[in-house]
Amino acid sequence: MSGRGARVLLTGATGYIGSHTWLALLAAGHEVVGLDNFANSSPRVLERIAELSGRTPVFERADVTVRAEVEAVLARHPVDAVVHFAALKAVGESVQKPFDYARVNLGGLWTVCEALLAHGVHRFVFSSSATVYAGEEPPPWRETMRLGATHPYGLTKLHGEQWLSALGQREPAWQLACLRYFNPVGAHPSGRLGEDPRGIPNNLMPFIAQVAIGRRESLQIFGKDYPTPDGTCMRDYLHVEDLAEGHVAALDRLLGQPGSLTVNLGTGRGHSVLEVLRAYERACGHPIAHHFGPRRAGDLPAYWADPALARELLGWQAKRGLDAMCTDSWAWQTREPQGLG
Ligand code: NAD
Ligand code: WQD
Repeated sequence: MSGRGARVLLTGATGYIGSHTWLALLAAGHEVVGLDNFANSSPRVLERIAELSGRTPVFERADVTVRAEVEAVLARHPVDAVVHFAALKAVGESVQKPFDYARVNLGGLWTVCEALLAHGVHRFVFSSSATVYAGEEPPPWRETMRLGATHPYGLTKLHGEQWLSALGQREPAWQLACLRYFNPVGAHPSGRLGEDPRGIPNNLMPFIAQVAIGRRESLQIFGKDYPTPDGTCMRDYLHVEDLAEGHVAALDRLLGQPGSLTVNLGTGRGHSVLEVLRAYERACGHPIAHHFGPRRAGDLPAYWADPALARELLGWQAKRGLDAMCTDSWAWQTREPQGLG
């Protein structure tokens, strides 16, 4: 199978990362079958995929936890590979609703894999996360570092990785790419597609964006006495467009050669909360109200990726910097101040 022109099933396709990856796969010459149940995304994303790609999206509404629904999609659309985004992703919510997280993130994973094997599909790209690292060692974090999770969401990602790797030992044809994302932010540069959180945003950049547009009063910065240059936490923010291209590179690798891999997808640079805030102020052109509050439970002071292995194995590296992340987020926020609903 050549690395171009493959047919790819995307679960969680209308979500934040899924929708950007959908466009990147089409731009790279692949065909995409999107699947989602709209648990955390809008059907209107499909209009935007059509508008931005100039093609009619192939889409099936289905729930990844329901085997018959996944089977029906695979029966209608034979595919060469799957990129599995569908999951619940809020750390705090996972503590409140651990069974929902197990059911969707693990149950959904098992269901999709079982259906894939029944249909002879053996290439799988898994949305993992930097949250699988135990986090005891100083950054940059390498793939070989000790793993460990402290909340149900992280446990579903860690267990998912381990379970997929065990599956690979039983199924000789199985090819797995586990992609450990750091902090995805930003939006499509057109401003027509972006992150669309429901309710109060959990994550930094969507919160800043909503303060900047006037939907929220002030950003609370969690902690100002961390052992970092300006006292605020540091993370590896990664443009969602770079992340989408990382999926194309991972898929092309699975299509082009045998074997499996686990890699970090990050820039290799850490930025503090205050640096992100200042960059966003440059992007929107006005000051953004903020105040300092206590540390958030569970936050580590500073971490970022060592992205060397992704460069070596995938030929991929992030190209876009913090200013582009903020400019593109702001374009989305101003064009769609209420999201897509
Ligand atoms: P998202 O919520 O925007 O997208 C997930 C999509 O999955 C949504 O469209 C949702 O409707 C869909 N979905 C949920 N349950 C489903 C079900 N039972 N059946 C079918 N579809 C279902 O989240 P995202 O930020 O795009 O995240 C995509 C993946 O990347 C997730 O697996 C997430 O855990 C992982 N990830 C995200 C981040 C991040 O910060 N955004 C970081 C690391 C890893
Ligand atoms: C970034 C920084 C906060 C909000 C989370 C998940 C992780 C992964 C990515 C899925 C931190 C600070 C935030 C606010 C703030 N997701 N902050 N005020 O926690 O690094 O990672 O998303 O896999 O698993 O944990 O991202 O955007 O929540 O926070 O000061 O209102 O911004 O303290 O330092 P985090 P985040």
